[in-house]
Amino acid sequence: MSLTRTFLPMLGHTRGNRDAATCHFKCGNACAKDVCNTSENGYFRDIADSALGRRAVLGLGAVASAALVIGTEAFGTPAAHADTIVAPKGGGKLNFKAIAPVPRTRDAMTVPEGYDWAPVIRWGDPLFNNAPAFDITKQSAKRQAGQFGYNNDYLNIIVDKYSGRSGVLVANHEYTNEDLMFDPAWYEANKSEAAKIAMAAHGFSVVEVKRVKAGTPWSYIRGGERNRRITATTAFAIDGPVAGSELLKTVADPTGRKVLGTLNNCAGGTTPWGTVLSGEENFNQYFRGTGTANDARYGISDEATERGWEDVDPRFSAHNPGYENEINRFGWIVEIDPQNPNSTPVKHTAMGRFKHEGANVAVAKDGRVVAYSGDDERFDYVYKFVSKDKYRRGDRRHNMTLLSEGDLYVAKFSGNSPAAQIDGSGAVPADGSFDGSGTWIPLVQDGVSKVQGMSLDEVLVYTRLAGDKVGATKMDRPEDVEPSPVTGKLYIALTNNTQRDTSGKATVDEANPRTKNRDGHVIELTERNNNATGTEFIWNILLVAGDPSKDESTYFSGFPKNKVSPIACPDNLAFDSNGNLWISTDGQPGTIGYCDALHKVTLTGRERGKVEQFLAVPAGAETCGPLIHDRDGSVFVSVQHPGEGGTFKDPTSFFPDYVMNPSKAKRGEVYGPRPSVVQVFTTAKGHGPKDKDKDNNGNGHGNNKGNGHGNNKGNNQK
Ligand code: FEO
Ligand code: CA
Ligand code: CA
Repeated sequence: MSLTRTFLPMLGHTRGNRDAATCHFKCGNACAKDVCNTSENGYFRDIADSALGRRAVLGLGAVASAALVIGTEAFGTPAAHADTIVAPKGGGKLNFKAIAPVPRTRDAMTVPEGYDWAPVIRWGDPLFNNAPAFDITKQSAKRQAGQFGYNNDYLNIIVDKYSGRSGVLVANHEYTNEDLMFDPAWYEANKSEAAKIAMAAHGFSVVEVKRVKAGTPWSYIRGGERNRRITATTAFAIDGPVAGSELLKTVADPTGRKVLGTLNNCAGGTTPWGTVLSGEENFNQYFRGTGTANDARYGISDEATERGWEDVDPRFSAHNPGYENEINRFGWIVEIDPQNPNSTPVKHTAMGRFKHEGANVAVAKDGRVVAYSGDDERFDYVYKFVSKDKYRRGDRRHNMTLLSEGDLYVAKFSGNSPAAQIDGSGAVPADGSFDGSGTWIPLVQDGVSKVQGMSLDEVLVYTRLAGDKVGATKMDRPEDVEPSPVTGKLYIALTNNTQRDTSGKATVDEANPRTKNRDGHVIELTERNNNATGTEFIWNILLVAGDPSKDESTYFSGFPKNKVSPIACPDNLAFDSNGNLWISTDGQPGTIGYCDALHKVTLTGRERGKVEQFLAVPAGAETCGPLIHDRDGSVFVSVQHPGEGGTFKDPTSFFPDYVMNPSKAKRGEVYGPRPSVVQVFTTAKGHGPKDKDKDNNGNGHGNNKGNGHGNNKGNNQK
């Protein structure tokens, strides 16, 4: 890899979505390459007017609405926080006046009037007593392995039940931006060490946090008993039906049951039993393949990788004898136990192998658990896993086996409006909504492959090809798929797909209704009879995203378009305790021209579809991992890749330390951007930053210390 921008293949070709550096480092320039899904599986228009008619769908809708009256009880245990004290039972207060969208070059955390922010932990902050304070000029793989990793994405703070004043913060580290991490001259002379630093900056961080009382900011504990780093070289156990398969064996692991590391962990979810799931997403870019058709379906090419890890460790090239299957050992959902730093993290083969965005678990009425997961690639699919065994409240050891065995399904969406009314413009069809029914098509049931011509092992290792064969619906990049803890309805973020309905590609359909879908949309899905283990559902589009002041094709469930915040490229989803949906974005700068954001969306009542922007992240950053602790008056976000598009020598962001002169940097501070976890908190009486411990390394407070880079206040929407 070269660190100069002239070597970014997507420079000038990002089709308005994001910075070329993001394409390069995050996804391995996925958009520059051919679409992976070239299968001919069932086009929506073939089935639009068949199957269930409008009346039948209305019938389903009536059943679902009735079930909503008993909401959570009907659906079962909420997905997230169920075993923590922050259970979503309503009563949260997070009043704010929406901020105005923030121009894309502004390098500031922007929060509403009455709120302030502070970093909880930053890239390089030491997790252990023997780990050194961060010094960007003296970084090594050993140092990095004891420090908070790079590009935090999924985030949760699991509060300890008894005190409420302690807990663990869990974040994953999706990828690295070498051009922001390393001095170019040093990098050129030390590529091998740089690769090892990057490996140590991937994975997970688990770190203990504390606060004075509920409602005050959290700070992290250096040397906390549960603190842990998981990296690209940590041992994982492989479990489920494919463990020990010939498809997973390598010369280093002839058992096919143990793999080193996890890569490109994107979003995730916390299970009702308190473990954390995370998706191995764009894993293809780390490996050199041999040009097989199976590899092509996963975007793995027979070219030297940009990161060059195959020069450091032979397992990253399938050309090296004995490592042909190493690629098959990535692309899974991983589960870690943040309470036990000595536990072996697990890769769950029963949940299939694809570019998992993440996974979220709910407990169904009959006690089995379901896990929903999107495959984040243009024209790829949405999946559901249903466990064989049932959830037992309080039996953690048992519950940690639930994702090891079960059934796997892929989604097929059918619309109920005539195909001619879905014209690609975003115009709502005559029946007033983009909606219809759908089925979960089985890929695996009762431990048996349901896909003709594919064995069980093949279905689970080459899950994308299984989805092709059964006619799953090609979606516009499914990101987070998250059940509401209040209603059980499922929300699916489709981030964008500028190749929809272009030459030779899948046409528009009612579930993906916009040609060259630049700004994405959000689908609301209701399992039939609120039965999460079933195979039928109904769905409708909640939002067709964009800037409604400039774009006719937007839709906000009928809410007036002149009263919403502009929103583009929905990515990660979360809920507050009242059941409002919160959406973080990945790509607003390159699409609607604003910094990425966190938006609140009302789902019920007269204001259904109202989008209100809560915050904006600094220049170049993406908003990830939103966590809404509204009853504490707090919102947390992972600020990922701040300053992307700048360089080590010429940064475009100084978040969060805002050191504007390198000679003025205090110990542990950086001249330039650092991915960080940020807490946004109300400054109302009884709240505020009172927990300023001297031993806490995490805290520069966030008021953009006198640098002319814009203040972080107010800026209220008119
Ligand atoms: Fe890592 Fe799908 O975003
Ligand atoms: Ca319709
Ligand atoms: Ca994401």
